[in-house]
Amino acid sequence: MQPTTTPEIDLQPSLLDKALNHFQAWAIENHQNLVSRTFLPIISLVEGIIANNPAYLDAKRQGLGLTFCCAGQIVLGDFKSLETALTSPQARDWRLGTSILSSSHGPGVDKGGRNVFLITLSDADAGGGNHDFFRQCVDDYFFNEGMFIRQHDQVAQRLVNQLATDYVDRINNNALEEFFKNDQRDWKGFLVRYLHYIILGINPDDQETISILTNLHYTKKGTFYYLAGSSILEKLNIWGFSQIPELVEQVATIYENSPVLANFQENDPKYNKMTRRELAKLMVSLMSIAGLQGPLHLGRTAMGYQSLPAYKGRQTSAIDVKSYWDKLDLDNRPSIQLFLLECARLFLPVSASHRVATEPFTVTVAGKTRTFPTGTKILIPMLLGMLNEDFWGATTYEFNAQRENLCPFHMGFNSVGDRHAGRICPGKDLALEMLTDVIITVGKARRAYLSQVVNA
Ligand code: HEM
Repeated sequence: MQPTTTPEIDLQPSLLDKALNHFQAWAIENHQNLVSRTFLPIISLVEGIIANNPAYLDAKRQGLGLTFCCAGQIVLGDFKSLETALTSPQARDWRLGTSILSSSHGPGVDKGGRNVFLITLSDADAGGGNHDFFRQCVDDYFFNEGMFIRQHDQVAQRLVNQLATDYVDRINNNALEEFFKNDQRDWKGFLVRYLHYIILGINPDDQETISILTNLHYTKKGTFYYLAGSSILEKLNIWGFSQIPELVEQVATIYENSPVLANFQENDPKYNKMTRRELAKLMVSLMSIAGLQGPLHLGRTAMGYQSLPAYKGRQTSAIDVKSYWDKLDLDNRPSIQLFLLECARLFLPVSASHRVATEPFTVTVAGKTRTFPTGTKILIPMLLGMLNEDFWGATTYEFNAQRENLCPFHMGFNSVGDRHAGRICPGKDLALEMLTDVIITVGKARRAYLSQVVNA
């Protein structure tokens, strides 16, 4: 295991870090003040984008302590607070971690209807109305027995085998980068076909449909449509973004007509009368923001394409993940899952979620004990839980898939292991099972190719 600490590195916060922390603490406390109302939204937007780099939040915690401000939110970075937040009901706002979501592009509201965007809806036990109904609908129609069966059938296996063939073809042609970048075949092409087949039953060989789905989710970067500021991309037609609203409707129609929704029952009170169109629109947003992004990211880490983050004062980014992949027992599924969880611990695909305070609370921030009002946004930085040295010990920033408690205390899927209060990522099992198959099948093809080259 490589040592990953460089003790002489200065972990002191910069003047800007301190100023931002002090100003935000004051502004959140005095949120009605004109100065707060003018500057807090700008800081929230800009710092919210910057803070998507996991090294940013980690450096803040090292410099400012466990509780600090970032992107207009109070960050409670100690393990216990995170554990409690992830296992308690959550009130929500238009946020995805530190990023602000576009309230006008949310599924449902974009057409003047009700908001069905799951991640923005509060739990019933935290004063919300619809989250639990719509989540139940998503679980019942998509994440069910049929999905499990498809994931273990011959079509799914054929797609994984094709991925391995693409991988070998790319290394053979010295074009491994293309394997991770190309969106028509390879890693992205696989994810579009595989996930739409497993989750919605869509035929992966229907090239016309696959082209439309690829165009929205990857080629035109549809994920950004759901983030604040995307209206500018639309107006300036950056990346052909003016076509996105129409594409979203087109993809929703494909989802509406998908095999898994063939027997959809409209107006069921169990789902608060969710309509087929509402469910389809919700699913477009979920596939764009969660389904096709989380596994893309984790696969890129696990197959060694992207380095682990450059955490300040550590050498985590120098870890060669591929060397761990090459040493795995590829017939031992549990050990492969631990390898994936360790990759996701050091580089979370979704680094944070959030909640909204339902009552005033008092904490010490920026050197002063302060009381923040109801409605304050609180970041849930799972990545800080995953890097907490009090919990994980001196080897926190090192790679060790055998570390104790990795599975039962993993926070990467909006839960603590299997513990949660209704908001665990419903794609967790599906994603880990798929990635395990990929690591095995592509790993075996990689080893066979490399040994053939060595013996040639
Ligand atoms: C490595 C893969 C994945 C990771 C790490 C991951 C992680 C997460 C996290 C952290 C959240 C909570 C976000 C928040 O509430 O702020 C979440 C929510 C969600 N994820 Fe995933 N996800 C992954 C794959 C998937 C897949 C393949 C799907 C399939 C569509 C999916 C569907 C969802 C849905 C529907 C939610 C919203 C749950 C709710 O609010 O009730 N995820 N995911």
